[in-house]
Amino acid sequence: MANITNEISRRRTFAIISHPDAGKTTLTEKLLLFGGAIHVAGAVKSNKIKKTATSDWMEIEKQRGISVATSVMGFNYGDYKINILDTPGHQDFAEDTYRTLTAVDSVIIVVDVAKGVETQTRKLMEVCRMRNTPVIIFVNKLDREGRDPFDILDELEKELQISVRPLSWPINIGAKFKGVYNIYEHTLNLFKPDKQHVTDRVEISDINDKAIDAAVGEADAEKLRADIELIDGVYPDFDEKDYLDGLVAPVFFGSALNTFGVKELLDCFVRIAPSPRPVTAEERVVNPEEEKFTGFVFKIHANMDPNHRSCIAFVKVCSGVFHRNENYKHVRSGKTYRFSAPTAFMAQKKEIIDEVYPGDIVGLPDNGIFKIGDTLTEGENLHFKGLPSFSPEMFKYIENSDPMKTKQLNKGIDQLMDEGVAQLFVNQFNNRKIIGTVGQLQFEVIQYRLLHEYGAQCRWESINLFKACWIESDDAEVLTAFKKRKQQYMARDIEGRDVFLADSNYVLQMAQQDFPKIRFHFTSEF
Ligand code: G4P
Repeated sequence: MANITNEISRRRTFAIISHPDAGKTTLTEKLLLFGGAIHVAGAVKSNKIKKTATSDWMEIEKQRGISVATSVMGFNYGDYKINILDTPGHQDFAEDTYRTLTAVDSVIIVVDVAKGVETQTRKLMEVCRMRNTPVIIFVNKLDREGRDPFDILDELEKELQISVRPLSWPINIGAKFKGVYNIYEHTLNLFKPDKQHVTDRVEISDINDKAIDAAVGEADAEKLRADIELIDGVYPDFDEKDYLDGLVAPVFFGSALNTFGVKELLDCFVRIAPSPRPVTAEERVVNPEEEKFTGFVFKIHANMDPNHRSCIAFVKVCSGVFHRNENYKHVRSGKTYRFSAPTAFMAQKKEIIDEVYPGDIVGLPDNGIFKIGDTLTEGENLHFKGLPSFSPEMFKYIENSDPMKTKQLNKGIDQLMDEGVAQLFVNQFNNRKIIGTVGQLQFEVIQYRLLHEYGAQCRWESINLFKACWIESDDAEVLTAFKKRKQQYMARDIEGRDVFLADSNYVLQMAQQDFPKIRFHFTSEF
């Protein structure tokens, strides 16, 4: 067996996040090219759902099939073992992305130089901030006309609420883009558009080297020197500890499509990004170096084939070494399971694996054992803290269209909720089931999957709701009084917790005013 400390320290598990179209897929592909995991550009057909209009959501089903392979992309780069965890491009599946972020040790954010920070990036950054996840920013598409890099830096700081520190700097942008000066390594890379190859480096001693003038012209060299002087004056030196604490984000500039600035990003990333870190369980902090295996399920992927309704549970190994055919405790049920066919994710292949180290993801065949957030251990009762559920944005009643298939429908709903497809609330007054989602597409996916995987037909009925609030109070009487007053609007979530369904912001404000002793939460953990 390999040395576990060594194995841990060489692992880098991260996600690339961005607003759709900023270049996440392209950057992922280029990183895989550097890792030798793929050999030609265009090989990654990630689970990109975004370009299909909402009406063409069938495409999702097709794409779900291949997305198992690209869910986790593991490859070796030099001495490092890199795991990229893919996240859905479409914002209607933002919950999936939030959950994936619970399994990464750091994040690379891609921003389009012309568009700057967009909504999706802002939301995802909030999740990173909640967890103090270290963040590196890649400003992409420098080969296109875009905004002034200093403006972009200001916007990043303001919109993402994090200090930034450029570690590379572009020489012009768009048609006049000439290259990038690497502040971190004091090198100069000249830009020649080429999708497959890395552009040559110019050897320089420092920023005053005349070789820069020879390479980019005197005027641009002078401008570069002035910019770097300004940067060094305005931004404190890069501090790795601040980065690891999630306080400062290093920024790189480049063009993913042209494989430009990507290697610099990757080389710096493997050096500074954290190896698997201690994970906080409800009971205690779990260190990756601990001898005993622990891990948690952050994603469940259903098989599309209705004849084999098996799923794959994605388990992030938090400590110890996971072994094939060993007995592990499934903490929620208290039962012991052995897994004879755990899969590793290397490049884009799935293969059976005997040992899995902290930081890695292992795929476990699942026929209904697992729920998102479940913990596996060698016997200890541990519960890893997941990410709270957020109040959904959209709500609908789910109704049975085929009374002969009630059982199938209920089973289907339960399993889809365990998979984390959407959130279920049961109205305590009339027992009607309400599904909450972050986007319209999820309703369509649920309806389709219920029919195709469970043979159950559902229809949606509209319901006018503003927010779901998890409520609590130190005063049991007040809580009872509130629940009585609002009985038509009280529901239970999947864990049986009390949820108040407010139909408008006004109603919510009034409730908060009338019941000051009750705390209203927009996330399920508080
Ligand atoms: P996403 O996963 O974040 O949604 O973005 P993706 O990589 O699919 O990139 C979105 C579009 O931007 C793609 O073009 C891609 O080729 C382009 N792109 C990515 N990086 C760069 C870059 O550095 N410079 C320029 N000029 N374009 C870039 P598309 O035409 O929408 O798709 P495709 O047909 O090329 O795949």
